[in-house]
Amino acid sequence: MYSDKVMEHFMNPRNVGEMKNADGIGKVGNPVCGDLMWIYIKVKDDKIKDIKFKTFGCAAAIATSSMITELTKGMNLEEAKKLTRDDIANQLDGLPPIKMHCSNLATDGLHRAIKDYLKKKRKKVKNARGRKSSRGSRRICKS
Ligand code: FES
Repeated sequence: MYSDKVMEHFMNPRNVGEMKNADGIGKVGNPVCGDLMWIYIKVKDDKIKDIKFKTFGCAAAIATSSMITELTKGMNLEEAKKLTRDDIANQLDGLPPIKMHCSNLATDGLHRAIKDYLKKKRKKVKNARGRKSSRGSRRICKS
């Protein structure tokens, strides 16, 4: 049986939808039940400025997605990386044991979105350095 909090988040999910120009996207799926989830994040000053989700799944998958967006909005990336499936389930006053795997989708989705953001950020820095050094070498050739 689901807790009142799970039912409330399932019936009125927060932060639903796709995000245009997301800084990071985490897509996860559960091959056993076929559920799919996308977590989108916007990051500013190493904090999750905005977060949205799109989930095709069971009531628990939708409730955990909704809860993770509520919980992490404004959270520091390092803190968000440490969240576990138990943290999410506890925030929802628990999940039936058979549904605990659903909270894995939400935490895995969040962690992947953060990873995606960090990967893109590293790439941007690397590209900026590459442009700087190639501009520098052009100047050397012209003089
Ligand atoms: S049954 Fe698939 S995530 Fe809940």
